[in-house]
This record gives sequence, structure tokens and C-alpha cells, in this order.
Amino acid sequence: MMNKIAGLLALMLLGTSFLIGPLSYFLPQVFTQFKIYRKYLGISGFAVAVIHALLSFYSYFNMNLAFMLFDSKNEHLLGVWLGILAILIFLTMTVTSTKKAIEMMGAANWKKLQTGGYLALGLVMAHFIFMETNNGLFIILVVLIARLLVLLLSLKKKKKNNNE
Ligand code: HEM
Repeated sequence: MMNKIAGLLALMLLGTSFLIGPLSYFLPQVFTQFKIYRKYLGISGFAVAVIHALLSFYSYFNMNLAFMLFDSKNEHLLGVWLGILAILIFLTMTVTSTKKAIEMMGAANWKKLQTGGYLALGLVMAHFIFMETNNGLFIILVVLIARLLVLLLSLKKKKKNNNE
């Protein structure tokens, strides 16, 4: 129970942190003031995610590291690795969240790295599905195919509009 709450709390903190950017693009008058909180929301989300991973190791996988990471009998193997990948991306973002890191990397490179957080958030969503269902792969496939269809249809429409 504690572990589920930690996972959901991490997702909430990270999700809010990443939502402020797009929201302040569309509604700058309302959301720009919250931009200063993004860093702290992100770092706290990362910290709670680490606690969640440790709790999972301790209580969900009974401290059996080999089973958790490498055993094909672990039906949530892919979910675990997706979560670890997300944590590694958030770790990189946290380590480079200082002014000094921005100066060392250059603003453009730093921004690119921070955008990678959206990928990590996608990985967390996939992790969520894989941990909560044994058919996670199926659900993700359906979503991906639906997304591909929408993309193809919008490309076709664009082409048609260009020809007209
Ligand atoms: C950024 C990293 C992560 C986030 C934000 C995250 C978030 C979540 C969320 C939201 C859930 C669903 C909770 C629910 O049942 O409602 C979940 C489940 C779970 N996660 Fe993570 N997770 C992350 C990384 C990891 C890692 C690295 C591990 C393993 C080492 C892990 C292990 C688990 C387990 C075992 C469950 C199932 C818990 C249960 O059903 O009792 N998570 N996670």
C-alpha cells in the first residue's frame, strides 16, 4: 500500500512539473508564475521515485535482486526495467539542475537534455501499465497502433491540402 502511494505520488509530482511548461505556453498569464516550482517538483518527484523503487525491492520482490532484474519468471521484468530507465533519466536531470551545469553544458544542450524528461515520463506511464497488468504489452501495442493511425491520417490530410 505504502509503495503504491509512493509510486503515485512520484508520478503526480513529476507529471505536475512537466505540465507547467506546456500550460504556460498556452495560458502564460495563469501558469508562468509556477515555472519556478518546476525544478523542485521534479527533484522531489525523483526522490520519491527512488524511495518507491527501494520499497519495491524490499517488499514486492523480497530483496531478491536477481529475480527482480534478470529472472524471466518475473512477469513484471519489462516494467521494472522501464522504471529503472526512467529513474536514470530523472537522475541525470537532477544532477544537471544547477546553474553551474547549465554553464558547463551550454543552454541549448541543457534544454535538449531536460526535454528528455518527457521520454522518461512516457516510460513511467508504460511502467505503470506493465506493473498493473500482465497484458501490458497488448495495451501498449493497441495505443501505439492507434497513435500511428492518427499520424498517418494527419499526414494524408496534409498531403491532400498541399495538392489542392
Ligand atoms: C520514475 C520512476 C518510477 C515511477 C514514477 C513509478 C511509479 C509507479 C506507479 C504510479 C505505479 C502504480 C501504482 C498503483 O498501483 O496505483 C507503480 C507500480 C509499481 N512500481 Fe513503480 N515507478 C517508478 C520506478 C520503479 C522502479 C525502478 C521499480 C522497481 C525497482 C518499480 C516498482 C514498482 C512495483 C513493484 C509496482 C507495483 C506495486 C503494486 O502493485 O503493489 N517502480 N510505479
